[in-house]
Amino acid sequence: MSGKTVTCIGAGYVGGVTMAVIAAKCPDYKVLVTDIDEEKIKRWNTDDLPIYEPGLLETVQKARGRNLFYLTDVKSCIKEADIIFVSVNTPTKTFGEGAGKCVDLQYWEKTARDILESSDRGKIVVEKSTLPVKTAEAMKKILESNKKSLKFEVISNPEFLAEGTAIADLETPDRVLIGSSQTKEALAARDEIVRIYEHWVPSEKIVTSNIWSSELSKLIANAFLAQRISSINSITPLCEATGADISEISKAVGLDTRIGGRFLSPSVGFGGSCFKKDILNLVYICESYSLKETAEYWENVLKINEYQQERFFLKMLRTMFNTMAGKKIAVFGLSFKADTDDTRESPSIYLVKKLLAEKAQVALTDPKALRNAFWAFGDDAEKIELFEDPYKAAENAHAIAVVTEWEVYKKLDYERIFGKMSQPSFIFDGRNILDGEKLHKIGFSFFALGKPPLIRD
Ligand code: UDX
Ligand code: UDX
Repeated sequence: MSGKTVTCIGAGYVGGVTMAVIAAKCPDYKVLVTDIDEEKIKRWNTDDLPIYEPGLLETVQKARGRNLFYLTDVKSCIKEADIIFVSVNTPTKTFGEGAGKCVDLQYWEKTARDILESSDRGKIVVEKSTLPVKTAEAMKKILESNKKSLKFEVISNPEFLAEGTAIADLETPDRVLIGSSQTKEALAARDEIVRIYEHWVPSEKIVTSNIWSSELSKLIANAFLAQRISSINSITPLCEATGADISEISKAVGLDTRIGGRFLSPSVGFGGSCFKKDILNLVYICESYSLKETAEYWENVLKINEYQQERFFLKMLRTMFNTMAGKKIAVFGLSFKADTDDTRESPSIYLVKKLLAEKAQVALTDPKALRNAFWAFGDDAEKIELFEDPYKAAENAHAIAVVTEWEVYKKLDYERIFGKMSQPSFIFDGRNILDGEKLHKIGFSFFALGKPPLIRD
């Protein structure tokens, strides 16, 4: 029995899910999850959880009330803790120096001060949020600026889970990374964190490193993943110009074991809370060390992503005779990827805003994310029709744009859909998930990414 108490500050997609798995796997730890958003904590205590993630409810139910507790009193959660995981959000700064690029650390610093204020003994503080390299050092300075002579150790343990597969990613991770400084006390604190993961992760997958490497590895891992998507996306217009087929290229290239087949699916652009923010942060850090060439290299990964989003929209506009005013367009998908309700940086938001600017009539459908439409679009949400049912969204539409790769969109009865659409009917597949030949036979003009178009006369 460890008899230890772990507290997590920030009950979002990272903190909420990670703590559910830790509590389920480690019954000998008491796990307290807290958040400044009281409404969120209330929902963690019901079966209507504040986020959608496959398998999450079952995992929560295993431990909730046993050793997993969701509480609104941040102070007492801090006080009781031996170990504090911090997973508050770290958005891109929108003001002042570094606006639009560097990370806004105001919540992070406030959390460090809250920890200090409510502690009456030393603790281990674990960075879960993605942070600029060297943040741990700043945090330690804040924590040790106390008159109480309390000792804190700051450990970096970045999260590599991807939304939609978060539970599996946590249960069988490729690796768990734990960074610390190399003092005796810091190494002892690091081993405390290792012991938590050893409950279910094989030791060889628990990697330790110095703290700067750990912080930076998270940024670099995300930058590499995003770079692969931009690399394959950058080839889609070349395929369209030459008659090559991007699926065949992804397959041929990915079969080289040095390259590997994953993260080579072309798309209307990557989204999510991490890739753009982390690359902007990487660029900012490089610039602040005067590493202009490195900064420009990574900035181009984002430029290609923006280009791909714009290209998709322009393809729709040009194909539909350069006018969309008054035309109904069904947009399939609001979440930034399948199996999540998260809409942060979703390419769907970009597309819908462009369509609205063209005065199109937008009908948006998504199996899980519609509840976040107001968050995603603000006042513009009133101009969009929302449909749970994709068949209703497509009724009388001139075109369908598939933006999220939800399984359900592959299985729809497109003959039925075609029968109720305006003619000529177009489908723009921004995820290459539909059977173009079949749709073409039904009567659609069909456009995928990096493939020859299948046009009806
Ligand atoms: C995470 C990471 O923490 C972030 O650094 C990473 O780069 C992206 O993913 P995520 O869990 O996805 O964030 O964010 P979110 O779902 O917004 O959760 C953060 C939570 O922290 C929110 O529920 C917010 O209310 C809470 N919070 C924020 C606090 O409890 N205290 C604060 O001071 C600020
Ligand atoms: C990512 C990282 O994968 C994860 O390790 C990190 O902890 C957080 O950031 P996430 O953003 O949740 O996870 O999802 P991910 O599966 O990486 O997808 C990101 C975006 O890339 C999505 O919009 C997705 O649709 C897109 N994508 C992914 C592609 O366009 N093509 C691909 O081949 C793979």
